[in-house]
Amino acid sequence: MGRPDPHSYADTRHVELADLTWSARVDFAARRLDAVATLRHAGKADALPHVDLDTRGLELLDVRSGDTPLEWALGDEDVVLGRRLRITLVDPTRDGEITIRYRTGPDASALQWLTPEQTAGGAQPFLFTQCQAVHARSLVPLQDTPRVRIRYRAELRVPAALRGLMAARAVGRSVEGATAVESWEMPEPIPPYLFAFAVGDLASAELGPRSRVWAEPSVLPKATYEFAEVDRMLVAAEALFGPYDWERFDLLVMPPSFPYGGMENPRLTFVTPTLLAGDRSLTSVVAHELAHSWTGNLVSGASAEHFWINEGMTVWAERRIVEALWGRERAELDAALGRRELERTLASFASRPQLTSLRTALDGIDPDEVFSVVPYEKGYLLARALEENVGRARFDAYVASYVRTFRFRSITTDDFVALVRAELPGTLERIHAALYLEAPGMPPCAPVAKSARLDALIALGDAIPDAPTAAQLGATEWQLWLDALPMPYPRAAELDATYGLYRSGNFEIRAGYVEVALAAGLPGALDEADRLLGEVGRMKYLKPLYKALRLRDADRARAVFARHRGKYHPIAVQVVSGLVA
Ligand code: BES
Ligand code: ZN
Repeated sequence: MGRPDPHSYADTRHVELADLTWSARVDFAARRLDAVATLRHAGKADALPHVDLDTRGLELLDVRSGDTPLEWALGDEDVVLGRRLRITLVDPTRDGEITIRYRTGPDASALQWLTPEQTAGGAQPFLFTQCQAVHARSLVPLQDTPRVRIRYRAELRVPAALRGLMAARAVGRSVEGATAVESWEMPEPIPPYLFAFAVGDLASAELGPRSRVWAEPSVLPKATYEFAEVDRMLVAAEALFGPYDWERFDLLVMPPSFPYGGMENPRLTFVTPTLLAGDRSLTSVVAHELAHSWTGNLVSGASAEHFWINEGMTVWAERRIVEALWGRERAELDAALGRRELERTLASFASRPQLTSLRTALDGIDPDEVFSVVPYEKGYLLARALEENVGRARFDAYVASYVRTFRFRSITTDDFVALVRAELPGTLERIHAALYLEAPGMPPCAPVAKSARLDALIALGDAIPDAPTAAQLGATEWQLWLDALPMPYPRAAELDATYGLYRSGNFEIRAGYVEVALAAGLPGALDEADRLLGEVGRMKYLKPLYKALRLRDADRARAVFARHRGKYHPIAVQVVSGLVA
């Protein structure tokens, strides 16, 4: 089969290096990790005499097996894949190990190093990882494909004043002088994109028997309030999808530059501080990351070409958790909003429609560059079409069986299809599944969310809601309403004057309004956009706001980016550079 994942040098004829022991010293002054990785493989009768690992920017110091130095060579840099590290093995037919001493590069794409000024506390530096999609290779030389799931043990050496947290099981912490050694283990096999850690001035508060929230001390009280419902989410999710297999579900509130809303790192979900709205209105993101504990982390897509297996199934599962906790209306509003975003995004892919089928061909394409809501929302619609076709009871039983069948495996779209065929025969044909999986655009028969509140909202039209109506609107309803306004909206100024949307504590509403204000040409909009873009680095806001800013004033967009780019995560810098250039 050769190289089945276009984003990895891993070849099916290689041995699998599925067991990792990792030790790293976090050097804030040099902005590097000094690390040793020992990778082990089982003997494989017909394996090639060498193995190819993925690396990006690593400075390799030594490669050996026990005391025996191994022959190794780095290939040329590929912009998407990084560099191949070919190591000649002692004997691939027997169990073996490789120990690599190395340092991470100064621009490791998985790492963001923050100065004390870039944190809430202002006194200590901060470091965090983001390995999805293909950045684990900038931290550890390994087979960076979800097809090769790894278990690991790890030791992080950090300044003793800081905490080092890993998305793993805590083994212990000891202090040796100025250094703390934090030990971790990940006993379940995970795809390498779930390798994660963070180092900073972090404190925690209990949320439930299996959950606590970590944050910088000054952020902790707000975070504890916001995420208080997490145990209810866990209980609801277990009732839907089966037992929770990861012991704990902790949360870590990231610094504002975290480029995503959430990242489902096992046992320790990372979330953006923009979720801290003060009213728990954005916690469906937590439901989403929790749902990944089944769809994504237990059953993983085998490569970025099957990303919908992670995200589409997870959006479906997220909405089931939302429905269980807060009712059908709220889940349907989320689905309606998702469909709007999907329609807009599909239109924006008009020149590359092939990227809008669920199964994609991504050879030579950087998965971060083509990230969009399509696999999320079109994948959701496929799951929902299946559910509606066979009925909820049968589909729920099917999902439970899907999770049991593929537990701790990484699957392709074909594997998904084969199980549906076997367990729900005829269903794929009835819902025209090929229109989702293989064809671009919106399937004409795709299910449509139904909700009385949505109908009432549509009836509001673009007239500014009066005070009693506005008081009844939830955050998602405001978002839906803003999202549906004609652009440019002639009453944009009056809208802020009445409801103070620039100052909304809900980032979705605030960012949505800034877009409306930019499109309407309001005088203060440029400064408000500038302000927001200086406060957060979440790409969900950076992308539309930089686009809207560029349309309004391209020079200003470039100037704002030049001023704020130092705060953004390397992945965000790359993505926004492409937008404002
Ligand atoms: N796993 C994703 C984040 C991700 C995807 C990181 C691809 C890197 C590459 C995470 O589960 C996610 O989907 N986050 C969403 C929130 C969600 C509620 C749709 C986000 O970040 O906005
Ligand atoms: Zn997700």
